[in-house]
Amino acid sequence: MTDVVVQGLSKSFGSNQVLKAMDLRVPSRQFVTLLGPSGCGKTTLLRMIAGLEKATAGEIRFGDRRVDTLPPGERNIAMVFQSYALYPTMDVARNIGYGLEVRGTPKAEKQEKVGAVAKVLEILHLLTRKPKQLSGGQRQRVALGRAMVRRPDIFLMDEPLSNLDAKLRATMRGELRRFHLDLGTTTIYVTHDQLEAMTMSDLVVVMNEGVVQQIGTPEEVYGKPANLFVAGFIGTPPMNLIPAQFRDGVLTVAGTPLPIALPPGAPADLVLGVRPQDVTIVEPGSPGSIPGKVWIVELIGSERLIEVELAPKLRVTAEVRATHRAAIDDAVAIRPDPAHLHVFDPATGQAINA
Ligand SMILES: Nc1ncnc2c1ncn2[C@@H]1O[C@H](COP(=O)(O)OP(=O)(O)OP(=O)(O)O)[C@@H](O)[C@H]1O
Ligand SMILES: [Mg+2]
Repeated sequence: MTDVVVQGLSKSFGSNQVLKAMDLRVPSRQFVTLLGPSGCGKTTLLRMIAGLEKATAGEIRFGDRRVDTLPPGERNIAMVFQSYALYPTMDVARNIGYGLEVRGTPKAEKQEKVGAVAKVLEILHLLTRKPKQLSGGQRQRVALGRAMVRRPDIFLMDEPLSNLDAKLRATMRGELRRFHLDLGTTTIYVTHDQLEAMTMSDLVVVMNEGVVQQIGTPEEVYGKPANLFVAGFIGTPPMNLIPAQFRDGVLTVAGTPLPIALPPGAPADLVLGVRPQDVTIVEPGSPGSIPGKVWIVELIGSERLIEVELAPKLRVTAEVRATHRAAIDDAVAIRPDPAHLHVFDPATGQAINA
C-alpha cells in the first residue's frame, strides 16, 4: 500500500521556477499519468519523486513515510528514464536482470523473470545483443524490461514508449496495462501523448508550466475540462474555443443569436467550447445554427474535418462522416450540440459549470 503524496513542491533551476508549489496525491495501486506539453516539468517531478533531484521547497511522502530526505536507493522505486541509459558493455539479458543480480536473486529465478518480460516486450530474440546493436525502440524496451523484472513499491516511467512505431506502441500500451492490473503496483507514468494517457490511466494529471491544471479520470478531463488549457490540450482535433457574447440572457456567436441557455453565472464575454465531434454541418438558416463558408476540407480516414469560417479569423472545425460532401467556399452553417457545450470565463480561463 503506497500512495504518493506531493505537497507544496517547488523546484527552481537558477531563476527558472520549473515546479510551482505543486500538490498531488497518487492513490495506492493506481496508474496515474502526468500529461503535459514539452518542458512543463514532468521529468523534473518524476526525478524528484525518485530522489534524483532535490526540492527547492515542499515535501514528498510514500504513505506515512517522508522520503524527500532519503537517498534514491532507500525509496524502493523502479524508474524507466526518458533517456533509457543502458549498460553498454552488458548484453540485453544482463541489462534487464542487473537489478536482480545486485539483489542476489538466484540465477534460475533471474533467468525466468528476464525471459518472461522479454517475451512480453517482444525482445526475446535480442537477449544476447549489446545495446549498440539495437534500434532506439529496442533499447527503450530493454530499459522498460529492467524496471519490470523488479518488484518495487512504485514504478516511475518517463515516456517509455516514445520511440516505438505506432503499432508496437499500441501493443505495448495493452501489455503495460495488463502488467499493472496483474501486479497492482502504484505507477506514475509520464507522457505527452494524450492517447496513452487516456487509454492507460486511472487518473490523469494535466500539467502546464509547472502547475497542475486538473486531476481526474480520463472521462473527467475529457468531458469536463476545468479550464481553457485542459480544454484545448485534451482531444483530437482540439476543441473549438469560440468567443461569444451573453447579453440579457441571449447568447450571440459571430453576430448570430443562439437559442442556448447558459448557467446564471456566465459573464457577458465568454468562450464557448465545443468539440469538432459535437458540431454538425447544416443548411444556412437552420434553427440553432451559425452561417459561414467552408474554409478547408480534410479527409482523415472514415471521417472528414470541415473547417468553417464564421467571420474573419473565426473558424470552427466539424468532424463529420467521410461521405459528407462539402467544397471550399460552400455556404453552410454549423450547429453546435447544445448538450455538449463548455463555457469558459476568458478573464480567468476557468470553466463555468451549469
Ligand atoms: N538540470 C536542469 N538544469 C536547468 N534547467 C533544467 C534542468 N532540468 C530541466 N530543466 C528545465 O526545466 C523545465 C522542465 O523540464 P522537464 O524535463 O521536467 O520537462 P518535461 O515536461 O519532462 O518535458 P519533455 O516532454 O520535453 O520531456 C524545462 O524548461 C527545462 O529546460
Ligand atoms: Mg521529460
